[in-house]
Amino acid sequence: MGTIYRITGPVVTAKGLQAKMYDVVKVGHEKLMGEVIQISDDKTIIQVYEDTSGLKPGEPVETTGEPLSVELGPGLLNSIYDGIQRPLPELKKGAGDFISRGLTAPALDRKKKWEFKPIVKKGDIVKAGTAIGTVKEFNTEHRILAGPKTRSGKVNEIKEGSFTVEETVCRLDNGESIRLMQKWPVRKGRTIEKKLLPNIPLITGQRIFDVMFPLAKGGVAAIPGPFGSGKTVSQQQLAKWADAEVIVYVGCGERGNEMTEVLEEFPRLIDPRTDQPLMNRTILIANTSNMPVAAREASIYTGITIAEYYRDMGYSVALMADSTSRWAEAMREISSRLQEMPGEEGYPSYLSTKLAEFYERAGRAKTLSGREGSVSVIGAVSPPGGDFSEPVTQSTLRVVKVFWALDAKLAQRRHFPSINWLTSYSLYPDILEKWFEENAAKDWRACVNRIMGILQEEDRLLEIVQLIGSDALPEKERITLRVARLIRETLLQQNAFHPIDTYCPPKKAYMMMRTILKYADLANSALESGTRAQKILDMKSKDRIVEVKFEKNYESFLKSIESEMEKEIKG
Ligand SMILES: Nc1ncnc2c1ncn2[C@@H]1O[C@H](COP(=O)(O)OP(=O)(O)O)[C@@H](O)[C@H]1O
Ligand SMILES: [Mg+2]
Repeated sequence: MGTIYRITGPVVTAKGLQAKMYDVVKVGHEKLMGEVIQISDDKTIIQVYEDTSGLKPGEPVETTGEPLSVELGPGLLNSIYDGIQRPLPELKKGAGDFISRGLTAPALDRKKKWEFKPIVKKGDIVKAGTAIGTVKEFNTEHRILAGPKTRSGKVNEIKEGSFTVEETVCRLDNGESIRLMQKWPVRKGRTIEKKLLPNIPLITGQRIFDVMFPLAKGGVAAIPGPFGSGKTVSQQQLAKWADAEVIVYVGCGERGNEMTEVLEEFPRLIDPRTDQPLMNRTILIANTSNMPVAAREASIYTGITIAEYYRDMGYSVALMADSTSRWAEAMREISSRLQEMPGEEGYPSYLSTKLAEFYERAGRAKTLSGREGSVSVIGAVSPPGGDFSEPVTQSTLRVVKVFWALDAKLAQRRHFPSINWLTSYSLYPDILEKWFEENAAKDWRACVNRIMGILQEEDRLLEIVQLIGSDALPEKERITLRVARLIRETLLQQNAFHPIDTYCPPKKAYMMMRTILKYADLANSALESGTRAQKILDMKSKDRIVEVKFEKNYESFLKSIESEMEKEIKG
């Protein structure tokens, strides 16, 4: 037992405490939860996850002797937690809207019973990470994994039936017992068998992502953008539509009202594929800007540990963090309380390391249970004033492989999603090429490259137009501009709020590309055989291509446009 010596905001110094680095401690009479972040001589420095006002020197501090950990087991899906995995609805029940301090509630319901079905049988070898059985968690088969400290042994007894998370369902001949839940320290990545190549795309149903800047399952992406440019809408579209089996959504330090929107909206959303509430495959972690900063710092780790746990069951998991800038600001605040030497713009010098360590926990893996799973991470970044040269955006850029750059100008023009197609990039197209070739279309990559080429050409031409006006452009170039506009309006713009356009399967995106490129080919060959550009530009049929976005029967729709185009050109 130690005592409080000094308090500076969320940082508390204790004396006489026998604790290890990263131990969770209970601070003061109210037993506020904190974590040891520095030890020097006789002083222990603690970041406290709750509001420290009213705390006084001399109050007791005790260590739990354990690192900050999350509870992993059935009951995670459909939960809403704060940054240190306290169930928000439970806390609110006890305390009303203002969560009073020192409150604790277990992350997993201790009373609820789960129907357990064994996978292993007597005599089977079980080691840490082995899947020993399953329980049904909504539509997800929740695989019960032997805990991380399980010494390998043979199954002596395996039960079947209805159990709480704390009850033993399996005993090994070496005395080990396994229950439905386990714990894992959040700051440490969960153990895997080995990393696998990220060669399967995470299909998002958002054309600009899937076609132009694809993300792999197990890949890492960043969405930077100024306020109002569409970070939250993009993240929510991903949460709704990405073909991941489990979604972890970390609402990190955004203003209270934005988070309230998420908290209110998410439970109402319906998973378009199963017609079940989206929350049934989602875990929400919420730490708004008015909640203590230290818990916000922890929330990212809580989220990724839960994501890794479902990966270890063999699932593809997608984690969205909105926004990592607020997370970095939490680090900055704690660092400055520790009077550490500040780096760029006051962020701690270890900012890049922390960001890299976080994103490195993503990946596709062979798990200890012999399955394949993945954690994909998509972090929103909110640079002040939309200036991408600031430290958080720059450090993020160094580690992510996909960069979806939001652009305020596009948002103002109501071009949504306002992802800038010239500055965004993905490093995955090579590794994903084979998948698209086999699962979407043989010439997928060739089409994408042509589309990209036309958009880049448009950018070059628009500069010229600015100087000399469009009338002075050669005819061929005027056609290129029209094709580029078709690409922007049909392929790149996508309305998140339209019932059909909100999701676009890769096949539909491919057909759109093909029809647009067909127009380009027809137009160019007509031009070569002497038709005036104006005549080609006046073609009515191509103007209808854009409507395909709102068509369910896109194939027949595009076919009819293509044949109309051919007729018009012949004419
Ligand atoms: N894909 C989209 N489709 C339609 N509207 C969008 C789309 N993305 C953004 N918007 C519009 O832009 C507004 C701001 O987006 P939001 O995601 O809240 O911005 P941010 O989180 O970057 O501050 C939304 O309320 C919505 O009206
Ligand atoms: Mg937002």
